[in-house]
Amino acid sequence: MSGEATASSAGAPRPGGARGFGIDIGGSGIKGAPVDLETGGLAGERVRLATPSPSTPDEVAKTVAEIAGSFGWTGPIGVTVPAVVAHGVTRTAANIDASWIGADAERLLREATGADVTVVNDADAAGYAEARFGAAREHPGVVLVTTLGTGIGTALVVGGRLIPNTELGHIEIGGEDAEHRTSDAARDREGLSWEKWAKRLQRYYRTLENLFWPDLFVVGGGVSRKAEKFLPLLDLRTPIVPAGLRNEAGIVGAALLASERGPRSSERAGSER
Ligand code: BGC
Repeated sequence: MSGEATASSAGAPRPGGARGFGIDIGGSGIKGAPVDLETGGLAGERVRLATPSPSTPDEVAKTVAEIAGSFGWTGPIGVTVPAVVAHGVTRTAANIDASWIGADAERLLREATGADVTVVNDADAAGYAEARFGAAREHPGVVLVTTLGTGIGTALVVGGRLIPNTELGHIEIGGEDAEHRTSDAARDREGLSWEKWAKRLQRYYRTLENLFWPDLFVVGGGVSRKAEKFLPLLDLRTPIVPAGLRNEAGIVGAALLASERGPRSSERAGSER
């Protein structure tokens, strides 16, 4: 099972031990904390440092190393980025510095921290945490987690297993990138009332449910704290609920995914020599 992610807590091995460490790279802040892998709660006070500007991989790596170092943490670290991550390489940069495209983020962060780093998409981390400990806890079916923030992030979790990099915030609706009109940043930027924004959300979630037929939608991101303002305005066949873990979901999911991943093949080769 090494390298696979399964959110069912029933009997899943946790080779990382009872504690992990997660770091969430956001547009304005980089936050990190140790995580209790048994409960999904933070196991220490969260540290937040400002995201460097420009937020290039080298500068961000220094901040990540500073946060891990401030806890004296040397075990595996999970780090989220708002980008597609394939085999440790960041492939897109919708809301971060363009220099992340093609960066070997995992190697860079491993070198900066001296720790075993796993880099994951921010919504995938949050979604995985929701499937393990939050609003979709141990859900056996198809769960589509969306994070409404600067962009729209998505995580598809099926029977507890994460299907990474779904990027459904960028589906095209009415000839436009959905996140451009429907993110929480769009609501803010255009000064939309809850009702007006809900019309856009309605079209977005209706499109998603027609394409994926999920059993459950989970809505995360900071605005999910105000879910009662907009979720009741939606008319969907799929149940839709606010996230359970809120702000910490990214940190928790990153720590979980890092602790569950086996050693990299290059490290395995190295240790066998
Ligand atoms: C990015 C995703 C990210 C989401 C939330 C989108 O613009 O393409 O990778 O998960 O924003 O940060």
